[in-house]
Amino acid sequence: MTKKELQNLLEEMSLEEKISQMSQVTGNLISGDSVITGPLAEIGLSREKLALSGSVLGIAGAKELKELQKEYMKNHPHHIPVLFMMDIINGYKTIYPIPLGMGATFDPDLAKRCCEMAAKEAAAAGLHVTFSPMCDLVRDARWGRVMESTGEDTYLNGLFAEAMVEGYQGEDLKEKGKIAACVKHFAGYGAPDAGRDYNTVELSDHTLREFYFPAYKKGIDAGAALVMSSFNTLEGIPVTGNQKVLQNILRDEMGFEGVVISDWAAIEELIYHGYAADRRDAAAKAMKAGVDIDMMTGIYAQELEGLVKDGVISEEQIDQAVMRILELKNKLGLFEHPYKEAEEEQEEALLLCKEHRDLAREAARKSFVLLKNEGVLPLHAQQKIAFIGPYTKRRNIMGSWSITGEEKDIKTFEEVLRSEYQKMQAEVCAGSPMLGSDMKLEGFTEAAEEAVAEEENKEQMLQEALAAAKEADLVVMMIGEDRLQSGEATSNATIQIPQVQLDLLEEVAKVNENLAVVLFCGRPLDIRAIQEKAKAIMAVWLPGTEGASAILEVLTGQHAPEGKLPMCFPYSVGQVPVHYNEYSTGRPYQHGKDKDRFRSKYLDIPNEPLYSFGYGLTYTTFALSDARFDRNQVTETEGVRAFATLTNTGVREGTETLLLYIRDKVASVVRPVKELKAFQKVTLQPQESKEISFVITEQDLRFLTAENRFESEEGEFDVWIGETFVGTIMR
Ligand code: GLC
Repeated sequence: MTKKELQNLLEEMSLEEKISQMSQVTGNLISGDSVITGPLAEIGLSREKLALSGSVLGIAGAKELKELQKEYMKNHPHHIPVLFMMDIINGYKTIYPIPLGMGATFDPDLAKRCCEMAAKEAAAAGLHVTFSPMCDLVRDARWGRVMESTGEDTYLNGLFAEAMVEGYQGEDLKEKGKIAACVKHFAGYGAPDAGRDYNTVELSDHTLREFYFPAYKKGIDAGAALVMSSFNTLEGIPVTGNQKVLQNILRDEMGFEGVVISDWAAIEELIYHGYAADRRDAAAKAMKAGVDIDMMTGIYAQELEGLVKDGVISEEQIDQAVMRILELKNKLGLFEHPYKEAEEEQEEALLLCKEHRDLAREAARKSFVLLKNEGVLPLHAQQKIAFIGPYTKRRNIMGSWSITGEEKDIKTFEEVLRSEYQKMQAEVCAGSPMLGSDMKLEGFTEAAEEAVAEEENKEQMLQEALAAAKEADLVVMMIGEDRLQSGEATSNATIQIPQVQLDLLEEVAKVNENLAVVLFCGRPLDIRAIQEKAKAIMAVWLPGTEGASAILEVLTGQHAPEGKLPMCFPYSVGQVPVHYNEYSTGRPYQHGKDKDRFRSKYLDIPNEPLYSFGYGLTYTTFALSDARFDRNQVTETEGVRAFATLTNTGVREGTETLLLYIRDKVASVVRPVKELKAFQKVTLQPQESKEISFVITEQDLRFLTAENRFESEEGEFDVWIGETFVGTIMR
């Protein structure tokens, strides 16, 4: 439709009809089943009102959505098509690694390809919008939703946000295989006090602008069609009712012109925050802040008409919101093609096709981070190996938001081992349940029941594992968090793997100290106990549909691990929030150097995380030499090129991700001790050398100054490539 036709349509619509476009409900409230991803409160809407809701979330499938669309449009006074939205955050049916694992790839283009794949599958299944990318910067591993982020670095998150939006949306949403992206959760949701989900967020305007806003902005600048308002407060006002955040910053400063959708029930939660007196007040505050779609409360449908009649909200404000929603439907081409590309045959052909599985396996391989390896990986062909741990047999190794991924499409580690590695002399034992009875997954769906300990045969499982461990040349432990222990509403004060598995590790290590650990996790963990006992540790996150194959390809050396940590693994939870780009403080503490007491340090643990951002090994070694600059002054028009020679000093091919860091040594506001400014991946054959270089421009030196402007200031900048100090340059 043209803009004029949209305008004419808007003018023909009744106020009630307009307002109904601003409600989103789950599909089962209209017809058909839905996945419930938030608390279910009584919506209190009549079936007629529900049936007119402008968008639906949590339901998918070409057949179901075509029927729903047909029914919806038949009943709609102006036959306006309904929008179908869902959380497709790491694949639709072919599930790839969790976003934190994708962050570990340091490969935005790979993420783009994965999102393209997810969009193709989701579009064939009738979906129009995904609630992704999540662009929240995260520094606190107690918050289980770090799983959904690409990590703790502003620059890296921005590259992934941009790549993911481009992957989902392409150049034109009308194109085949494209779905609209939704940047979330705007803003600052990733920094809840004490790491407790939905808790208060206290971030200064400066910190928000310096660290948190840029990744959302990169997603918006990449053309994201929607932004989701977050649950949390900022400066004491819930974002979903916050005009400064949603109007002045998001719309006026960042120039976002698309649809703002609330997070699940976030409008009603203005009441529980103590910011709205009742549902009518909540509706008014969310509307004035600029929330266009009310997710799952029914408040807009119930209250907006009265607010307009009482002059609290103008019909012009309603029209602006509804026009943005109609424009989104128009961009998707739904007025001309309401079923877009929901097509059973296409759906059948695309979902889990070989090309998609191959991509999911590539992404999984590249997400793995080798944290330690004292010569035990890759596995040697003649070894007798005992694979021990609940993840040897666990089928579901997808992130907890993989709501349309299905276990039946996944092979367990044991199944892949037995079918594709028959020559390997291997025993496989679960050794322990995934979770002990001490774990709290309260309020989870019945899906959580199977994760809780099968206490009765624990002893037998242990004895079988110890017998296998005794006979083995090497034990490979497949252990970690349960998949349901990360994601929404999974904050934990302890960030260790379940005790029942730590006990297993303890017992196995007593009978065989030649031990490697494959660690499944949705967040950084305190892995000191594992560190003490394991000669090798590889974090595999939650790797998705092809995870088992990917793990065996890397364990056997067909592919070497190449991931780097996108978020620190803390020494202990006492350090959290810990992040590499911290400020120096007035009393910096250098391990072992600053003897005096009055330094910024702990008495009982080191300041440094156990493994820092950017850390990751592979099966070969690299050396960096001849690091230098071509000049030492950055000007407005000319950057400095930093050179170095990278050599593969090992006996196997390897891929190294070189990270360029700077430190602005003196500035009008304190600057981080290190800031990532660029990176590049280099693959070298054994003994091969290659000269690499980075150009550091004036733009790279910009930051939010004391005058609240993004500018560079004169002064000295230290430069590193990886851990190698290159030298100091001037601006
Ligand atoms: C949830 C999440 C959000 C998700 C939405 C819809 O509560 O906070 O990330 O997109 O509801 O499922």
